[in-house]
This record gives sequence, structure tokens and C-alpha cells, in this order.
Amino acid sequence: MERTLVLCKPDAVQRGLVGQILTRFEQKGLKLVGMKLRQFPKELLEQHYSDHKERPFFPSLVGFMGSGPVVAMALEGIDAIAVVRGLMGKTNAREAAPGTIRGDLGMSFSNNLVHGSDSAESAAKELALFFPGADELVDWTPCTLEWS
Ligand code: TYD
Repeated sequence: MERTLVLCKPDAVQRGLVGQILTRFEQKGLKLVGMKLRQFPKELLEQHYSDHKERPFFPSLVGFMGSGPVVAMALEGIDAIAVVRGLMGKTNAREAAPGTIRGDLGMSFSNNLVHGSDSAESAAKELALFFPGADELVDWTPCTLEWS
């Protein structure tokens, strides 16, 4: 069982696509174990993307991610990291396959709707960054009882 961080980026929030994006993950069978909406500070976003800090697109990436509210989610499931990456599609939304979130909903390379952790190491680091509180991720068991 793995946990991974997903971000619905500012373009997804502005375009009203958060529900559709979350639905895809839920319908696939991933379990939501944490969620929040925030306009995250620049320092946190710089830390989140620190692997890219020498790349030319780093300032515009951090600027975009801080330009509006972002929905951060923690999702859990078997191979959750790879499953989420598969559902997201290629980084450049124009090249992302139909059926993926980016492939179906986007046309941009840089404003590409979603982020998903790319390894177990990044998932652990990113979940701790976006959900630092001890009670922010919730352990819960799907209810198997009949509702009355
Ligand atoms: P990356 O981690 O390579 O992609 P992914 O989000 O698919 O894991 O890059 C992080 C984000 O940086 C990416 O979603 C969009 C942006 N980006 C650019 O704007 N230009 C680029 O050339 C690259 C590689 C990424």
C-alpha cells in the first residue's frame, strides 16, 4: 500500500475541474486520505519543486503554482504513485494520451492541471510538506455495513 500527493493546480481550480479530477482517482479505486484548498506560499512551492531549481522554467512554475488556490490531496492504494502518474498522462498535455486527465482536459505544457509524486521518496517528502500536521491524513476503513 502506498500514499501519494496529488495537486490540482491553479488552472484546474480556475476551470472548475477539481471534481472531475478527483472523480477519476476515486473511480479508479484510490482512497482519499487527505484534502485541502490553499493558496500556498512561494517558499513552500520552491521547496516542493526544489529538484527543478536550476531549470529555466523554475520561476514561472513557482509563479504559476502560487497564482491561485491549489487543492492538495493524499491518495492511498496499491502502487498509488504509479497509478496516479498513469492517470495524469504525459507532462505536455498536448502530447498526453486520450483517456488521461491531461490528455482529455488540457492543451498546455506548463499549465497542466495536476501534479503527482514521482517516487516513494518524493511522495514521503511532499506529503510531509503539504500535510505537516499529525492529524491531517486520515486512516479510515470503507464501511461494509448496510446503511439503515
Ligand atoms: P516535471 O516534474 O518534469 O513533470 P510532471 O509534472 O509531469 O511530473 O515538471 C514539473 C512541472 O514543471 C510540469 O508539470 C510543468 C512544468 N514544466 C515546464 O513548465 N517546462 C518544462 O520544460 C518542464 C520539463 C516542466
